[in-house]
Amino acid sequence: MKQSGINRSETFEALIVEQDEHGRFVSRIGRRRFDELPEHGLLIKVNYSGLNYKDALSASGHKGITRKYPHTPGIDAAGVVVHSDTDRFRNGDEVIVTGYDLGMNTSGGFATYICVPPDWTVRKPDNLTLLECMSIGTSGFTAASAIYEFIKHGTNPCESKVLVSGASGAVGSMAVAMLSKAGYKVTASTGKPEATEFLRRIGASEIIGREDLNDTSGKGLLPVRWHAALDTVGGNTLSTVLLSTAEHGIVANCGMIASSKLEVPVFPFILRAVRLIGIAAAETPMERRLELWNLISNTLKPDCLDEMIRIVPLHDVPSALSAMINGSLQGKVVIKISA
Ligand SMILES: NC(=O)c1ccc[n+]([C@@H]2O[C@H](COP(=O)([O-])OP(=O)(O)OC[C@H]3O[C@@H](n4cnc5c(N)ncnc54)[C@H](OP(=O)(O)O)[C@@H]3O)[C@@H](O)[C@H]2O)c1
Repeated sequence: MKQSGINRSETFEALIVEQDEHGRFVSRIGRRRFDELPEHGLLIKVNYSGLNYKDALSASGHKGITRKYPHTPGIDAAGVVVHSDTDRFRNGDEVIVTGYDLGMNTSGGFATYICVPPDWTVRKPDNLTLLECMSIGTSGFTAASAIYEFIKHGTNPCESKVLVSGASGAVGSMAVAMLSKAGYKVTASTGKPEATEFLRRIGASEIIGREDLNDTSGKGLLPVRWHAALDTVGGNTLSTVLLSTAEHGIVANCGMIASSKLEVPVFPFILRAVRLIGIAAAETPMERRLELWNLISNTLKPDCLDEMIRIVPLHDVPSALSAMINGSLQGKVVIKISA
């Protein structure tokens, strides 16, 4: 860090989560010293970050995400290298970091600087801006990971209807827009009637209510409604989705907004050969990561990306985190950190 001209006792702006005297987790904007950052090979000045559900969990003291506080969340960051210990990156390179341990137990992207291993770092694709990279971020990367699996499975865009649950959220809305761009017919499930117009604009051809994915009949199979699905909700929603999937269909689950439990009859698997796969974006190996960013930048980037995001300053992040926990956000929140 010495070569970067930065003194380790200098400070930079960051969102800091800590416990108050009552043990409650509170978020505030404050300053952190460079010597509080971990000593990894790349120091990056962050231009943009993005809001993800994991950040909301980290900011509310979820010990499965973050063990030690005070902490700066932010699992996504895009910015410029200001110091590099490796020949693989030079000062001035524009880069993206999503997932791995960033923002979990490593100081994250809700700050002017992050320090990360080069192995976590992806060079910004030429045909995306840093703002576009963070508009997509982990949410879009997760949606693209599912679409990659659908394509690999042989799900044909011209003939296939695909369901997205939690459709107005960050992952859900990216999935709706990317699937529609790839040519699929998209059914969007939402609990927000007011999101109908938004979902149609970004590419949904059918909108269904959240309660429509909460079957309690106890049946072992339900009438077929789609060939593939991306479920962000878990629990009985995922079960209902599986029971309604066509023969040889595929269901990807990435989330557990409603529940982390899954109780489902085996009939979709043994009678319809439905495949259930998991998406773990943070753990994606680097080779696949590069392939996915390539797919996103060349094929899947939504044409309506500008309409799907809301750019906020770091000061607005605490209220956006609360809105995320309440499930009231629509689309993606991008955080402008520095110019
Ligand atoms: N595995 C991975 O790699 C990965 C990556 C990213 C995110 N995730 C997970 O994916 C999930 C979604 O993340 P996100 O960033 O999209 O969050 P988000 O922006 O907060 O969206 C979640 C959406 O779920 C719906 N929802 C909220 N409460 C619900 C409830 N009680 N029952 C059913 N639906 C509800 C809402 O959409 P509607 O109102 O439209 O229904 C909400 O907008 C989270 O569990 C997150 O941890 C996983």
